[in-house]
Amino acid sequence: MTFQNTLEFAQQLDAQDELRHYRDEFIFPQHNGKDVIYFTGNSLGLQPKRTKKYVDDIMNDWANLAVEGHFYAEKPWWDYHERFAAPLSKIVGAKPSEITVMNTLTVNLHLLMVSFYQPNPKRYKIICEEKAFPSDQYMFQTQVAFRGYKPEDAIVEIKRRDGEHNIRLEDIVAKIKEVGDELALVLIGGVNYYTGQVFDMKTITEAGHQVGALVGFDLAHAAGNIALNLHDWNIDFAAWCSYKYMNSGPGNASGCFIHEKHHANKDIARFGGWWAQNKERRFKMEPTFDPIIGADGWQVSNLPVLSLAPYLASAEMFAEVGMEKLIAKRNQITSYLEFILHEIDKDIDGTEFEIITPSNQAERACQLSVFLHGQGRSLFEYLMKNGVITDWREPNVIRLAPVPFYCSYTDMYNFGQMLKEGILSLK
Ligand SMILES: Cc1ncc(COP(=O)(O)O)c(C=O)c1O
Repeated sequence: MTFQNTLEFAQQLDAQDELRHYRDEFIFPQHNGKDVIYFTGNSLGLQPKRTKKYVDDIMNDWANLAVEGHFYAEKPWWDYHERFAAPLSKIVGAKPSEITVMNTLTVNLHLLMVSFYQPNPKRYKIICEEKAFPSDQYMFQTQVAFRGYKPEDAIVEIKRRDGEHNIRLEDIVAKIKEVGDELALVLIGGVNYYTGQVFDMKTITEAGHQVGALVGFDLAHAAGNIALNLHDWNIDFAAWCSYKYMNSGPGNASGCFIHEKHHANKDIARFGGWWAQNKERRFKMEPTFDPIIGADGWQVSNLPVLSLAPYLASAEMFAEVGMEKLIAKRNQITSYLEFILHEIDKDIDGTEFEIITPSNQAERACQLSVFLHGQGRSLFEYLMKNGVITDWREPNVIRLAPVPFYCSYTDMYNFGQMLKEGILSLK
C-alpha cells in the first residue's frame, strides 16, 4: 500500500480498520481533554473497560460467600486458572495442558530455571542475549552462583557486531555450536525489549537441541504481540508477563509454558507447593508430593484470583479477536508509523533520529525503537508534555509501540506532526 502523510489518509485507514471499535473498549488517560497518544503498551497496556467487572465479581463473591467462594463463586477460585488454558494456548501456540498462570514473570523464570537449568561440571553454560532485560541478567547471575558456578564463566552473551543495533541469527547459531557440549541452557527474549527485534525461536531451539541443551524464552514482549507456536517449535519452556500487550494491569500475573514432553517426568527438579498437588488429592493434605501432570504441576501457591481477574478479562478479549487480526493491523500500523518517521526525517535535516528496530517485517513486531541523535531527552520530554506517552531507555532511545488493539492511524499522523514541531522548536 502506498501511504500518505496526511490527516485524511490516516482517517481513511481508521475507517477501514476492522478493529477500530476496540479502541472504545479501553480507558485512555486524558491530556487537555483528549486521549493521549499511547505508545507504551509494550510496558503497561491500557485498562480495558470490561476488566472492572471481573475484579468486582471477585470482590462481591468474597463479600457474599467468604471462604465458600473457593468452590461456590460463579467462577470458583480454586480452579480459576484453568479458564486461561484455552485462550492462552491459542495465543502462544500450545496445548492447553502446557499452560499455567501463576506468580510474576521473573519469579516464574526462576522456578523454570530450577527445573530446566541443571548444570554439571561439564555442561553448565547459559547463552543469553547481550543487554538482556536487567531482571533476566540478575536472574542468570544469581542462578548460576546458586549452583556454585561463576557468572563470568557460565554466562555467555551473544553480542551485536560493531556498528550494528541488532543481533544476527547466524551469530546466535554459531555461538550455540561453539559452546557446544558445555551448553546447558539457551534462554533469551523472544522479542528484545530495547530494539524490538524478533528472534527466530524455531531455529534457535533447533540449534540448542542439536548440541544437547535445553531452550527457553522470556516472552514478555512477545505474548499477545507476535505469532507463537511454542509447542511445534519444540521449545522446552517459556514465561511472559500479562501487563504489556496483554493489558492486565501493573505487575500482574505471569503465564508459563512447559512443553508436554517434560510433563510426565516426576524426577525433574522443581520447587513444590500445594497447588501443584494432584487435584484429587490436594485437600487430603497428605505429606507426599504428587504433582499434577501438566504445566499446572509447576504451580506453588493457591491462586491470587484478584490479580488473575484482569488477565482473564484480557485473555477473553484476545480470544474474541484472534491473533491473526491483531497481527495484520500491527503490521500495517507499524509500517505506517515507520513511513511517518521517514517522512518527518525528510522534512527536517535527516540527522535527528534513527530507527534501530529491524526494517524487515519478519524481524520486528509492534515496536519501533528510535535513537534520538539530536535533542535526545528534551525531545522525549517535549512529547510527554504534549500528550504523547513514550518511554525513555538509556542512552538515547524512545520506544514506540502502536498497539493494534487501541492505537489509531490518526494517532500516528498526529504523532508525526508533534515530533516535527518538537524537533523544530528545540533546534
Ligand atoms: C523482557 C522482560 N523480562 C522480564 C521483565 C521483568 O518482569 P517482572 O518485573 O514482571 O518480573 C520485564 C519487565 O518489563 C521485561 O520486559
